[in-house]
Amino acid sequence: MAGVILLLLSLCVGYIAYYFFRTESMNKESVRGKRVLITGSSTGLGEQIAYEFARMGAHIMITARRLQQLQEVASQCMKLGAASAHYVASDMGNLESAQSVAQEAVVKLGGLDYLVLNHIGGSGGFGFFKGDMDPVVGSTTVNFLSYVQLTSSALSALQESQGSIVVISSMSGRIGAPFTTSYCASKFALEGFYSSLRREFALQNSKMSVTVAVLGYIDTENAVKKVGNKVSMTASSKEDCAREVVKAAVLQQPEIFYPYWGIKPFVLLRDWFPGLVAKILDKCYILENIQ
Ligand SMILES: NC(=O)c1ccc[n+]([C@@H]2O[C@H](COP(=O)([O-])OP(=O)(O)OC[C@H]3O[C@@H](n4cnc5c(N)ncnc54)[C@H](OP(=O)(O)O)[C@@H]3O)[C@@H](O)[C@H]2O)c1
Repeated sequence: MAGVILLLLSLCVGYIAYYFFRTESMNKESVRGKRVLITGSSTGLGEQIAYEFARMGAHIMITARRLQQLQEVASQCMKLGAASAHYVASDMGNLESAQSVAQEAVVKLGGLDYLVLNHIGGSGGFGFFKGDMDPVVGSTTVNFLSYVQLTSSALSALQESQGSIVVISSMSGRIGAPFTTSYCASKFALEGFYSSLRREFALQNSKMSVTVAVLGYIDTENAVKKVGNKVSMTASSKEDCAREVVKAAVLQQPEIFYPYWGIKPFVLLRDWFPGLVAKILDKCYILENIQ
């Protein structure tokens, strides 16, 4: 009896070790010539994701509001090896613009294999909710509805290519975080919409995939400027983060947590020990710098 229990325990430990430490390698060649639209790619993580796809020889379309930054990122993509690099300046606060961007990408790239939804804006500052509705409406439009609009407008092209949707989310889309009410709400909405869509693809036996990236604090210029003196956390590298996100997308993984050990334990403990998780995370805020 003791032998059987020992065997079962070893199998469990072996499975857990395999699950957490397995490394899948991606075939970079499989990305050569693929057609990729990346939103919010004039700077930050989106810019780095564009460079990752460029290095693997993809056709790239980038979009954000600032034209000059887009031109610079597109030219860097070409230097890194992109098969082609297009850009379009557009404001995702306007859903008609989001529709046009998706349509233009499909026309310019001749179809679409990867839709990377990454842009962020409209959610106001980092502080207490004082009843202002503008950031709630702004964030819902820019950070949720425009994602859905882009998906809707690109859906038939993605169906044709059996392509992939990549959604950049946050730990704030899994665990309510203070001082970012509007942002949190939009990220929770994304998680609901895209996890539901992923199930629909599976039930239709479609090869289309949805990868949701659940991210912690990343060292992009804007994030550090916004919260650098308000949180006592170390930001992770945007270059590493982009590499992991693209790898997860190419491997069609449903989720990726980055940095893994900084997020996954909290997400797992959230439902069983909500008080403990809140207490640990609350310690990360420098309250005297937050209004
Ligand atoms: N950095 C972090 O610590 C962190 C943590 C968790 C999750 N994330 C997620 O990672 C993603 C990227 O974050 P990031 O730090 O790289 O952000 P970022 O540096 O602020 O970049 C945001 C991008 O979105 C574009 N953008 C902003 N408003 C827009 C609008 N109305 N219409 C179209 N484009 C707009 C910006 O370009 P323009 O100004 O030129 O329009 C820029 O290219 C976001 O989804 C974010 O939620 C980041």
